[in-house]
Amino acid sequence: MKKVEIAKNVFWVGAVDWNVRNFHGHTYTTRRGTTYNAYLIIDKKIALVDTVLGSFSEELIEKIKDFVDPSRIDYIIANHVETDHSGALPEIMKIAKNAKVVGTAKCKEGLYRHYYGNWDFQVVKTGDTISLGEKTLKFIEAPMIHWPDSMFTYIPEEKLLLPNDAFGQHYASTERFDDEVDQCVLMDEAAKYYANILIPLSPIILKKLDEVVKSGLEIKTIAPSHGIIWRKDPLKIVNAYINWAKGLPLEKNVLLVYETMWGATEKMAKAVLEGLKIVGVKAKLYDINAADRTEIIKEILSAKGLIIGSSTHDNTILPGIAGFLDFLKGLRLKNRIGCAFGSFGWSGESVRIIENILKESGVEVVQPSISAKYMPSSDDLKNCFEFGKNFATKI
Ligand code: FEO
Repeated sequence: MKKVEIAKNVFWVGAVDWNVRNFHGHTYTTRRGTTYNAYLIIDKKIALVDTVLGSFSEELIEKIKDFVDPSRIDYIIANHVETDHSGALPEIMKIAKNAKVVGTAKCKEGLYRHYYGNWDFQVVKTGDTISLGEKTLKFIEAPMIHWPDSMFTYIPEEKLLLPNDAFGQHYASTERFDDEVDQCVLMDEAAKYYANILIPLSPIILKKLDEVVKSGLEIKTIAPSHGIIWRKDPLKIVNAYINWAKGLPLEKNVLLVYETMWGATEKMAKAVLEGLKIVGVKAKLYDINAADRTEIIKEILSAKGLIIGSSTHDNTILPGIAGFLDFLKGLRLKNRIGCAFGSFGWSGESVRIIENILKESGVEVVQPSISAKYMPSSDDLKNCFEFGKNFATKI
């Protein structure tokens, strides 16, 4: 096996999951697969930073064996409890019987509640260090980036930051470094990761990044726990995070997302789209049942406007758009404007329900909704066109 050295005597020993297409249950579609990055540090003491998903335990152990007998591992740094990084821990601990697991107090509690292992655990806080010999592990608690237990590990001698999920991407590849892959694909996957996992935590991320910058931490390499390692231009992803966390750059773009029963709401959606276009506003149209929700959420990172449509069904909205709006609510958006539309047969509650959810999601509803009974008439479609035009002027 080709050894991947990410810094002097620090080796990538992770796993590439080429075939995973749904992550976190079904909350995130991973069309490019993913990687679970674990790092082995060879020094007077041996440390493993994070592990991999449980089904890749054997692969991890075999990779470690290329460098050292796994029973010699002294420390296993658990930057994060979630099972895609801790899943192999029970298997490793069966071999590395003398290893100490290191993490935050919340990590200790979380790992116990996942695996119920009677492991030697060292709780660390921000500023605590462990000397491995020539290298030092320095810990930075990072609660809610993105779980309460989350932590970054920093190796000052190598200016290497191991921030677990932060700065990651779900991107399986034979390459490991940012200078080896297509930059557009890399940033697209990084944006998708931020949008789908981190948007609601943006204020915490901004605060943490500010704290890290002010602490004068020098960074040469950022090695996250998913995807590509940033060694050519680590500041590129740090600056992107700062912008995304600030809600920048918001473009004059509109996302038009709808669900239709018999095509009436879809006809309305297309007329609204024409209205947006005539004013020169860029817009993207998504039928929620044909589109990939993870991709739509990524588009929200840069879109100023959201127009949501649904037919009324059983006095409420359709189930596909309901699921989308429920996810949107969790994002706690800022600086976005929106409005609602939809067809109905007799009761017509859908638009009011959409407006209420948009407001709960942090989206400012800037114009009254529009509805059409059964199939939209030509007058209805003209009104939808004007509705789109009017919204475009507010973007
Ligand atoms: Fe990649 Fe929060 O786990």
